[in-house]
Amino acid sequence: MKVKIRNKKKDYRTVWFSKGRVWMLDQPKLPFKFQIAKFKNYKATTNAIKTMIVRGAPAIGATAAYATAQAVLAFKGSDLNEFNKYMGTAAAHIKKARPTAVDLEHAVDRVVKSLRICDQVKECKVVAEQEAEAIAQEYIAVCKKIGENGNKLIDDNSRILTHCNAGWLATVDWGTALAPIYYAKRFGKKVFVFVDETRPRMQGARLTAWELAQEGIEHAVIADNSAGYYMQQGEIDLCIVGADRIAANGDVANKIGTYEKAVLAKENGIPFYVAAPRMTFDFKCPSGDQIPIEERSGEEVTKIFSEKGIVQVANPSSPARNPAFDVTPAKYIKGYITEKGVLKKEELKKLL
Ligand code: MRU
Repeated sequence: MKVKIRNKKKDYRTVWFSKGRVWMLDQPKLPFKFQIAKFKNYKATTNAIKTMIVRGAPAIGATAAYATAQAVLAFKGSDLNEFNKYMGTAAAHIKKARPTAVDLEHAVDRVVKSLRICDQVKECKVVAEQEAEAIAQEYIAVCKKIGENGNKLIDDNSRILTHCNAGWLATVDWGTALAPIYYAKRFGKKVFVFVDETRPRMQGARLTAWELAQEGIEHAVIADNSAGYYMQQGEIDLCIVGADRIAANGDVANKIGTYEKAVLAKENGIPFYVAAPRMTFDFKCPSGDQIPIEERSGEEVTKIFSEKGIVQVANPSSPARNPAFDVTPAKYIKGYITEKGVLKKEELKKLL
């Protein structure tokens, strides 16, 4: 996607791999500073996922694939048994970075599986790098397709609500929930986006708002607790959100606050769509009840990021609780915007 820096527009991906290093846009610095961070080994890259320098399920997946390739490249020696033991430990370490986004697990497993064809460790090094890049490229292609498929749901002059950031910063390029909006814009449609601020980490106010501004799309940041008001006023036509893991029965784990938006949308007769690629579906997980929900530090609630740094906003002696995701039951979801089309819950097996 094109980023405007010093009045010039330049193409960037959210994450890329070059010379054994993983490079990414440093997301906690946005929108105040545009900075690129680089990570030289798999433990540093895993830590970047954990500390959310990169975040969003598909971006986490691509980064985890690159981290796995870094682990392969770092192995010294030629004994395949030793190598397999070492990779078991490295893969487990990377997979522990964040528990909810299933893309992470899928990407690590896919790179490790790709090594089965190799007879020698030096061959593994070539294959791992190629497979990790193939995963990143595939994300770009499927997100573009999600954009193309989701665009069909958007009428000219639509007013769309989105939650968190499921744009190109959360993927490798294009985005999931925002891809249809970017596509609609390219087709000359006028769109207005209501951007939930998305407490506590403010991915909406900081990242989605920045992306939409880069893309020249009209939008307004709204307080998390005001979506119901705008729905009641008839100001929202459509909701599109992303996902971190979708269970076999269609239940969706996404950023905390998604569930309440979906319930409000149903109450107000507004279609609620989830946009996600195949890699975000977990068909081994029967329902939302089995999805692990990440619990993050309460400090993310009691303090906020600002241009000037981190600021305490809650009573200093009070503890806080901070689940990072919630589960929206499938009954609230009108359809799933995927690379295979806009699917109903009953059609999700088409992705298998
Ligand atoms: O905690 P985050 O910022 O990684 O959470 C991101 C989300 O919940 C996104 O909505 C989801 O990953 C979809 S990203 C295309």
